[in-house]
Amino acid sequence: MLHHLESLQDFSKEELLAFIHRAITLKEERLSGVRHQQLAGKTVGMIFEKVSTRTRVSFEAAMYGLGGQVIFLSGRDTQLARSEPLKDMARVMSRYVDGLVVRTFGQEVVTELAKYSTVPVINALTDLHHPCQILSDMMTVVEKKGNIEDCKVAWIGDGNNMAHSWIQAASIIGFELVLACPEGYDPDAEILAAAQEQGAKPITLLRSPEEAMVGADVVNTDVWASMGQEDEQEERMKIFAPYQVNSELMAKAPADGIVLHCLPAHREEEITETVLESDQCVAFDQAENKMHMHKAILEQLLMTK
Ligand code: CP
Ligand code: NVA
Repeated sequence: MLHHLESLQDFSKEELLAFIHRAITLKEERLSGVRHQQLAGKTVGMIFEKVSTRTRVSFEAAMYGLGGQVIFLSGRDTQLARSEPLKDMARVMSRYVDGLVVRTFGQEVVTELAKYSTVPVINALTDLHHPCQILSDMMTVVEKKGNIEDCKVAWIGDGNNMAHSWIQAASIIGFELVLACPEGYDPDAEILAAAQEQGAKPITLLRSPEEAMVGADVVNTDVWASMGQEDEQEERMKIFAPYQVNSELMAKAPADGIVLHCLPAHREEEITETVLESDQCVAFDQAENKMHMHKAILEQLLMTK
């Protein structure tokens, strides 16, 4: 059955946990030298309208690692740059490739491509969501903490695309999530309300980062100005200053709490060099896990299509 990954909302708790456990197995198998070929003969088209290091390379490495291949198209390489309708792009690409991985601005671009595509469409980041990243991050939490359901996750900073995918994850899987965001930079009210209504455990929005750290097993932050918000950088630097994840703030969390950052990190802005380079920080494991998670996603969506 054709299954897209537009946001985490497209999957059940069991399906999200299955991605995590499959990615852990694929990681172990790679370490023990198992060679995979399950996507031999399959090709994925990667349409990226924003820059990327990790997501692009990890999806490409994942596809090659499973025996498949990729065709990468940057924003300026396709007729989308000259306003070809998305519905035409989706139908044409579906005849050439077995899946589409898309990084773009509006979530509606992914939705429109998915509506007309006859191959799976995977969201590799929009302004609204970054679902594959949060799957990789939850995999990292499971590796470090044993499970995600019993963890309290703290999100410190902007109520952005990453925050939205964490909110959906908390609601679907059922773990405690506390977000500390400055006024005016809250997550989307509809996404938050829907998640609070569905979630089995509290999803709380606070103003105080110190309060959010209490009992946090996982502390998570991200850049203060996301891609597309470069003009707001200077203003955001002032507003977000009290939300920096530094040693003083970390002292309010349990000593065995881990720190997540999806990278790229802006040192001495949202996180200090000391915290980023500390033993508590697992950002580079997260970055590695993107490749294993992307294998699990590609395998599941392309092989069951
Ligand atoms: N974390 C992440 O998505 O990084 P890139 O922007 O480099 O892909
Ligand atoms: N919130 C960030 C995530 C980067 C991986 C952005 O959208 O730029």
